[in-house]
Amino acid sequence: MDIIRKQPAALPVRPNLLDYETERAGFSWTAARRSLDGLPGAHGLNIAHETVDRHAAGPRSTRIALRWRGRDDAAQDISYAQLRDLTARFANVLATLGVAAGDRVFLLCGRIPALYIALLGALKHRCVVTPLFSAFGPEPIATRMEIGAARVLVTTTSLYRRKVESIRARLPALEHVLLVDDEGGAALPPGTLALQALLDAASPAYVIGPTDPESPALLHFTSGTTGKPKGALHVHQAIVAHYATGRLALDFHPDDVFWCTADPGWITGTSYGVIAPLAHGITQVVDEADFDAERWYAILGRERVTVWYTAPTAVRMMMKSGADAARRHEFPKLRFIASVGEPLNPQAVVWGVEAFGLPIHDNWWQTETGGIMIANFPALDIRPGSMGKPLPGVEAAIVRRTPDGGAEPVDAPDVEGELALRAGWPSMFRTYLNEEARYRKCFSDDWYLTGDLARRDADGYYWFLGRADDMIKSAGHLIGPFEVESALMEHPAVHEAGVIGKPEPVIGEVVKAFVALKAGFEPGEALRRELLGFARKRLGAAVAPKEIDFVATLPKTRSGKIMRRLLKARELGLPEGDTSTLEST
Ligand code: PRX
Repeated sequence: MDIIRKQPAALPVRPNLLDYETERAGFSWTAARRSLDGLPGAHGLNIAHETVDRHAAGPRSTRIALRWRGRDDAAQDISYAQLRDLTARFANVLATLGVAAGDRVFLLCGRIPALYIALLGALKHRCVVTPLFSAFGPEPIATRMEIGAARVLVTTTSLYRRKVESIRARLPALEHVLLVDDEGGAALPPGTLALQALLDAASPAYVIGPTDPESPALLHFTSGTTGKPKGALHVHQAIVAHYATGRLALDFHPDDVFWCTADPGWITGTSYGVIAPLAHGITQVVDEADFDAERWYAILGRERVTVWYTAPTAVRMMMKSGADAARRHEFPKLRFIASVGEPLNPQAVVWGVEAFGLPIHDNWWQTETGGIMIANFPALDIRPGSMGKPLPGVEAAIVRRTPDGGAEPVDAPDVEGELALRAGWPSMFRTYLNEEARYRKCFSDDWYLTGDLARRDADGYYWFLGRADDMIKSAGHLIGPFEVESALMEHPAVHEAGVIGKPEPVIGEVVKAFVALKAGFEPGEALRRELLGFARKRLGAAVAPKEIDFVATLPKTRSGKIMRRLLKARELGLPEGDTSTLEST
């Protein structure tokens, strides 16, 4: 597909990154850190100070920080000054409850104002915050809260009753459950507190304590192909990267209205749906509702969004209803569109021009990297299908694994290999919680190995080729097959299960399970439906398999590992590849 040429001088707003090579040559993380204030009295660096208090104390205090739009036309605008008071109240509630710095606070809510207030308020109190996706079922919630030893949970009454009550006995560390929607009264579920009454009684002033920039701030879970989910731990210092990528990759300018469509339960919705825009003191739109093309077009126009960060699945869903549907709306201020999380088809990049008059800029990163690492920058020509070039301050390489288990960079262009990043950027994860060995396995010398396969062309653009492992990407969500297999195996009829991502044109991949039954159970439509419902109830709609096939046995290696790749090859009618380790049956 043709290169989309950029003429930076002709763009409506002068991009922050005008010339890639110049910016790269002049960039340093030490200098980037100087865009932030630090805590008064040189008491370190705290995300909540940089995103809230410093703007509330200055000329931007009355500017809208969060422009929240509710599911049924409820709306709330929260200024930086108001956000300072609300987050201070939440931090004071934690203090009153005896919650200490370093304690883990989990959030399980839809995109409602309380989620944002609790997230930032907990950071003020120097707690470690984990937002969980509210469409998770009880099982993924329990696993993550167990690993994280959650001491506080902020949730709604309905989510508590549906998803937490049944697992509470598994969470001995959980002391305080704060319900955001309860107006008090007698009907509180046992063992919960009404947050609003506590907030009303709390002071709206809070002085953030000294915060070491290297102290933990956020714990985001990501799935593995084997074993339990991994808790990627990020520190307050990460905000240096959020700020820098907001400036360079998303091109934030002081008057911007930004909309990141991701949920904070996934890291995009925290790094870019909370931290980066607020660090810049701009206005960000939050929509509580799920995807709906017409609703989204209306928001982009009505809220006068200038910069929009979304996902390929959403773009492909919009493409289904045609560019005309978009063109019936006006987007008077929109000037930059970016997307992340899964491959963005070249057609989708160009469709942006048809629908919005703007191409869509793909960028790449992971839970572990904390922020954008490779991007199509506003002033850079786009090669549709490419993820773009590494961020200034980030060194990327294509590496080849060596026989001794190490990795060496490949200098030649157009060679397929594993994408690696040189360790040392501020938002890099600092460990997998309680799993230091698993963390160390991600590095070879000082290269962080991403688990993605890619190539770099002669001009330095990176092209995504696929995952090096069995991870599934469905509607932009990373799903670990092991978690799905484990849930299915809880069913009395299931002997074993193998789970794969089956390619699907709109959402990328659907979760598909192959199930071998225990003796005495017969495959059939009723059992298939029962298993689908069973998995959905435990895992939630975002993670559960959409398809189940019954098989007599699953292909396994001689050491007993299910060969998911072979299941996938057979499903797709592809060559089976190397089956030398296949157990003979
Ligand atoms: O495989 C890559 C894919 O998403 C993975 C990271 O998923 P997660 O940890 O959930 O991070 C979400 C934050 C973006 C990557 O290892 N991925 C991400 N961006 C792209 C992508 N695949 C292709 N193109 C992208 N732009």
